[in-house]
Amino acid sequence: MPIPDADGAVLPHEAEGDHPRPSPVPAGGRPLLVRTRAELARARAVLPGPVAAVFTMGALHEGHASLVRAARGRARSVVATVFVNPLQFGAGEDLDAYPRTLDADLELLGREGVDVVFAPSAQEVYPDGPPQVVVSAGPLGRVLEGASRPGHFDGVLTVVAKLLHLTRPDVVLFGQKDAQQLVLVRRMVADLDMGVDVVAAPTSREEDGLARSSRNAYLDEDGRRASTALSRALRRGRDRAADGAAAVRRAAAEELGREPRAVVDYVALVHPLELTEVGDDHRGPALLAVAARVGTTRLIDNVPLELRPA
Ligand code: PAF
Repeated sequence: MPIPDADGAVLPHEAEGDHPRPSPVPAGGRPLLVRTRAELARARAVLPGPVAAVFTMGALHEGHASLVRAARGRARSVVATVFVNPLQFGAGEDLDAYPRTLDADLELLGREGVDVVFAPSAQEVYPDGPPQVVVSAGPLGRVLEGASRPGHFDGVLTVVAKLLHLTRPDVVLFGQKDAQQLVLVRRMVADLDMGVDVVAAPTSREEDGLARSSRNAYLDEDGRRASTALSRALRRGRDRAADGAAAVRRAAAEELGREPRAVVDYVALVHPLELTEVGDDHRGPALLAVAARVGTTRLIDNVPLELRPA
């Protein structure tokens, strides 16, 4: 008789006795929810490859759905994780208030055809409390977002490394929206020989241009209106790419400055891999990145562009 796990899901090899079916979930059904490393290992063992992974902190929206669709396009099986990682939240950040919506998340992941969802507790991920040994993001982790969130990217990379070890995917997908996270994960995978393909998925946007983010839910009506200033600033900046770095920076900063409710943290035009500010004479690829606080909500956005000064 199959033994359901704590949430009533039936683990694949138990459901099938000695004859595991290729995928643990029927197409279009709810994904198999696993809570522990042991359950994950058993589910992972019978997933047909190649396997793609999508790591999330839950509170899922259309942006995550598009990430999962991109994952499905690259693999036979998809594992998603839902884990609000305490290690990447600083003192005074929104760890306790961070939205937790597992039921709705499972609906969305099921609809998008995810096979297995790993939603562990903090105790399961960090059984001995905060880890003694962590991954250091180094200097790349101290610029842009890292400048105002010290330690944030060490926490991100540490959990991403653990989730990669636990889920063992062939390919892992990250959204371009968190450009610095993407750069750092790529660096970690290359520098530490982690042997997984890292694929970027384009930023998913609302119709008015706002980049989709779980934190958008914190915006009130006024803030929601003001938040479109970020994507507008990026568009204005990108439109000046032919005029060089200084023109791009000026156009983006001016546009963002027009929105009184947006308190600007940075408008940066950086090398897309080194994340250092590019010189005014720079030609070639660059990343225009902005961060601003709207009310109590910190928003970030970015756009890759090609600088072609005359
Ligand atoms: O981008 C996120 O949601 C998180 O930083 C991640 C990658 C799931 C790690 O906790």
